[in-house]
Amino acid sequence: MRLDYLSIFPAYFDVLDISLLGKAAADGLVEVHAHDLRDWTHDRHRTVDDTPSGGGAGMVMKPDPWGEAFDEIIGTEPDSSVHVIFPSPSGVPFTQSAAQELSSAVRIVFCCGRYEGIDHRVIDYARSMWTVHEVSLGDYVLNGGEVAALAITEAVVRLVPGFMGNPESLAEESFSAGQDGLLEYPLFTRPVSWRGLDVPEVLMSGHHGRIAKWRRDESVRLTCERRPDLTDSDFGVPH
Ligand code: 6GU
Repeated sequence: MRLDYLSIFPAYFDVLDISLLGKAAADGLVEVHAHDLRDWTHDRHRTVDDTPSGGGAGMVMKPDPWGEAFDEIIGTEPDSSVHVIFPSPSGVPFTQSAAQELSSAVRIVFCCGRYEGIDHRVIDYARSMWTVHEVSLGDYVLNGGEVAALAITEAVVRLVPGFMGNPESLAEESFSAGQDGLLEYPLFTRPVSWRGLDVPEVLMSGHHGRIAKWRRDESVRLTCERRPDLTDSDFGVPH
């Protein structure tokens, strides 16, 4: 998998070398390239923004540097195997299943906007050439797409076959199929007693049936409490 990042702050992506992904890069599973969008400007001030057509507050990222960067980084031929991601608070909510689908991609290009956003023709052009995803991390506003691109990267790369040391832990965590879409149950380890707080007795019982039931009940309770949207109001909690 090759990952490209187009941004006016490419240093954001330096952390990819030291996080979990350093291992994936070292193992040859992923290849990371961060690019400075200003490298595709031609004026003295390396301008990437302009005033919004129709007026209004803030600035909009102009299309030319994006187009030239695409030509050089991706090419000028249509190719649906190239996934181009535009992080945006106006995007489709990013989910674990989207991460799962992207984990088999050979090529992902993250286009990180700043200011009020990117000239929409950049997204329309990319859509005419490649597989485009406009994605949001949630209902709040970040200053730019960089942190979102990092979060999406981490969600995707840990699902790349061969990346996780223990694939079983992938099946048991929040939102995975193994948990039926429920939140994960609380976890404990030794010591049994810590600062007056004890590991729940059932977990020390050695009774696998009771332990499984306790974990399931906790998952259901937490999901109803924190994420009622994940439960089906007509038919109760899944399974
Ligand atoms: Cl993906 N981008 C930006 N700029 N803000 C966000 C977001 C993305 N998701 C939530 N807020």
